[in-house]
Amino acid sequence: MGKLDGRVAIVTGAAQGMGAEEARILATEGARVVLCDILDDEGASVASSIGAEYRHLDVTNEQDWSDLAGWAESSLGRIDILVNNAGVVGFTPVASTELSEWNRVIGINLTGVFLGIRAMAPALARAGGGVIVNISSTAGIMGYSNLSAYVASKWGVRGLTKAAALDLAKDGTRVVSVHPGGVRTPMTAGVASEDFYARQPIPRIGEPNEIAKLVLYLVADATYSTGTEFIADGGATVGQTLDI
Ligand SMILES: NC(=O)c1ccc[n+]([C@@H]2O[C@H](COP(=O)([O-])OP(=O)(O)OC[C@H]3O[C@@H](n4cnc5c(N)ncnc54)[C@H](O)[C@@H]3O)[C@@H](O)[C@H]2O)c1
Repeated sequence: MGKLDGRVAIVTGAAQGMGAEEARILATEGARVVLCDILDDEGASVASSIGAEYRHLDVTNEQDWSDLAGWAESSLGRIDILVNNAGVVGFTPVASTELSEWNRVIGINLTGVFLGIRAMAPALARAGGGVIVNISSTAGIMGYSNLSAYVASKWGVRGLTKAAALDLAKDGTRVVSVHPGGVRTPMTAGVASEDFYARQPIPRIGEPNEIAKLVLYLVADATYSTGTEFIADGGATVGQTLDI
């Protein structure tokens, strides 16, 4: 018997990386999982390997969200869990960031989360109250150089989580944010060296299943938590070590 038997979960950006692991762990615990992405072949392949469904969804597209909500409720009967995981990164200094690049990152990472919450909230309410997990970042806790749009989007996700938690409390829906540090996925391939992680209290990069286990806990067990942040970053945001 799984912790999520009978529940229906939607995971965005689930064709690879953390999203694929999040979908896998929710399915392992008995949820019927719908993986969504714009990488259709990869997403369908992960879905079939874990006995789940795959649907094309561009998180910036309102029609895709409304089609997904209608399809999932009519085909699967209910929607209980939404993991807003899809995201992109872009490395440019603030003074030379093109408006198109700013809009791309904010559109996927922040507006995409808003559209997902707005599309799924009514179905979660009809299911008796659900859980929304928004994947932010340590970039939603502190700043990073050359990542202004990404940092702004992830702080935005953190704030949106709090506002949505207050608005959706009346439905019995919880909304929380997850703030991973560096995790080994296609997004970070070739970005940071082992030396970068060596300065952390836990001196290594994280693995996708370490974030997926936190998402499972938030969905299944964190019944007294809403609107708040959960950090899994090897201690990267704790503070600075002084060499004295
Ligand atoms: N990897 C890290 O170190 C790290 C750290 C902190 C936060 N995050 C966040 O975790 C989440 C997952 O990151 P990851 O490392 O697995 O990245 P990834 O690049 O491996 O996977 C991201 C997925 O999102 C999908 N995606 C991109 N644009 C989309 C769109 N418009 N609609 C639907 N899907 C779209 C991609 O196709 C991909 O499958 C992201 O929100 C990311 O910002 C990652």
